[in-house]
Amino acid sequence: MKIGVLAGGGDAPGLNAALKAVVMKSSEYDWEIIGIKRGWAGLLDCDVQVLNPDIVKHIHSEGGIILYTSRTNPFAIENGPQKIIKNIEKLGLNALVAMGGEDTLSVAQKLYEMGVSVVGIPKTIDNDLSGTDYTIGFDTAVSIATDAIDRLRTTAESHQRVIIVEVMGRNTGWIALFAGLAGGAHMILIPEVPYSLSEIYEILKKRQSEGEVYSIIVVSEGASPIDMKNAIIRSKQKDEFGHMRLGGISQVLERIIEEKTGFETRAVTLGHTQRSGAPTACDRVLAARLGVKAVDLIKEGKFGMMPSLQGNNIVSVPLKEAIARRKTVSLELYNLAQSFLK
Ligand code: F6P
Repeated sequence: MKIGVLAGGGDAPGLNAALKAVVMKSSEYDWEIIGIKRGWAGLLDCDVQVLNPDIVKHIHSEGGIILYTSRTNPFAIENGPQKIIKNIEKLGLNALVAMGGEDTLSVAQKLYEMGVSVVGIPKTIDNDLSGTDYTIGFDTAVSIATDAIDRLRTTAESHQRVIIVEVMGRNTGWIALFAGLAGGAHMILIPEVPYSLSEIYEILKKRQSEGEVYSIIVVSEGASPIDMKNAIIRSKQKDEFGHMRLGGISQVLERIIEEKTGFETRAVTLGHTQRSGAPTACDRVLAARLGVKAVDLIKEGKFGMMPSLQGNNIVSVPLKEAIARRKTVSLELYNLAQSFLK
C-alpha cells in the first residue's frame, strides 16, 4: 500500500503530531508513506517527499507542519480535480489522508465522490467543524489566548484601562468563549450572539460605578456589533475558498469605546500567535489518536470518513456530515460563562 498525506488550510499546532501518528501506524503494516507538500497544491504538481518513522519521530512537539500548507482549492482551478486524480495514479497512491478544516475536507469529499480513496483528519484552531467535539489546534489556540488574557490583566489593572483582546475563529466564537471563560474576561463578544455598542458602554459604566477600575473584553474577529452598518473585515479580497480576511474589530471598538465612555482603551490583536509554536499536550494526544484512527479506517477500507472525538471516544463520521454545516458555539456554555463575567 502507498498512502499520500497532506495538510491544507491554515496551519494548526498538532498537525505534525498527527502526521507522525499516520506514518508510525502505517509503518506497522509496511505501508509506504508519501508526504504531499503545500496541501492540494502539491498534488497538482507532484511535489512530494517520502516519509518514514525516522523523519517524523521527533516532530510531535513542533508547531506548523513539516510538509507546508496552502489554501489552494483544486476545484477553483481549470481541470484541477482531473489533474489531481491523474497525479494520484502517477504517484501510485492507493489512499489519501487529508488533514484540514471545512475547506480541505470539502475538497476531500468531492474527490471521494469522484472515486478517490480518501480519509480526513479534523484540524482547525477555529473548532468549527461538525461531527467532532474538538479539532486539532483548538486547545493550543485557547491556551495561548488564555495566557495572553492572564498577562494583559496586570497591565489593564495598573493603568485602569479597558483592554480589548481580539482572537481568531472566523465566523464562530469558540476561541473567544473558551479563552474568555478560562481567562476571566468581563465581556465575551462572539459572532453567534448579537451585541450592540450601547450594551458595551452600559456594562463598562456599571463596572466603574461598582468600583472596578479596569475591564477586559474578548472579541472574536468575526463579531461585529449589530449597530454597525458594515461588518469589520481586513480585506474584501477572497481566498480560493471564498473567505474574506477578517480582523480589525478590536481597533474599531478601541476608538469608539474611548470616544463614547471616556475610558482609556487599548486593542490587542493576538493574530497568528494563536496558531504558532508548540502544541499543548492535549492537542498532541488528540492528534495521535486521530492519526492512528485514520490509518485504521484505510485498513478497513472505510473511505469518505473522518476520525472524530465524541465524548472521550474516537469514532468515525462521514466527511459529508463533518462539512454539512458550520459548528457554532454551545449556547449552554455561553450562558454558563455569563455567571463569571464579574
Ligand atoms: O482558519 C484558521 C484561521 O486562523 C482563522 O481563525 C483566521 O480567520 C484565518 O485562519 C486567517 O487566515 P490566514 O492565516 O490565511 O490569514
